[in-house]
Amino acid sequence: MRKYIVAGNWKMNTTVPEGVELAKSVVEKSKELPSNVELVVAPPFTHLASVAEVLKGSKVVLSAQNCADHAKGAYTGEISADMLASVGCTYTILGHSERRQYYGETDEKLVEKMKLAFAAGLKVILCVGENLTEREEGRHFDVVKEQIVNVLYQFTAEDMANVVVAYEPVWAIGTGKTATAEQAEEIHACIRTVVCEKFGAEVAEDLTILYGGSCKPSNAVELFAQKDIDGGLIGGAALKADDFIAIALSF
Ligand code: 13P
Repeated sequence: MRKYIVAGNWKMNTTVPEGVELAKSVVEKSKELPSNVELVVAPPFTHLASVAEVLKGSKVVLSAQNCADHAKGAYTGEISADMLASVGCTYTILGHSERRQYYGETDEKLVEKMKLAFAAGLKVILCVGENLTEREEGRHFDVVKEQIVNVLYQFTAEDMANVVVAYEPVWAIGTGKTATAEQAEEIHACIRTVVCEKFGAEVAEDLTILYGGSCKPSNAVELFAQKDIDGGLIGGAALKADDFIAIALSF
């Protein structure tokens, strides 16, 4: 069965006390939600232990925003998948466009990170998406397809049960410029087809594909009404508990 998910990527925002307050509000308001929608919050690494405490006994689950490409050892400043699992993470986001753009995250590195995440028992929210030039040149389908093939095709159908894909067109992230429901749906449908070609119809049907990029309460209803859009990966609007929950109530 396909799962509906609304995940909040807090990026590099909030201090620990602010993050704890935000998590408390999300937990409180999550009681209004139907049980078929999973709520996920992805705070910065420094917040994970404190936020994990807040989430205990709630239906909100914890995600990291990244993990290291090595299991352990002399990698100053890095955080391993095992560490994330041990602090209570269910998921880690991987391949966010900000990491691809600013920190040299390549598809090859993502494969290594995903292997380590699965070995640690984490699920992965894999981000894909084209930039503005690629869209303007009409290459958006090819770019997203290549990202999916380069990374997901290295894994098995069993692994796919622990994968969520997030389509985030780079030109829509933090810009206030959302992809139209049609633009998003056609890419989501393409992702499902590419997954189907390798792993079969059942895996493709069960795969949760999120939309991310200036998703907010005012546009979530139309986006989530599309047949291949199974929720959202939310940036800015996830920093306000009311907006985040309103988005989750948009199914
Ligand atoms: P915004 O919702 O702020 O556009 O960010 C989307 C995003 O990058 C989520 O990962």
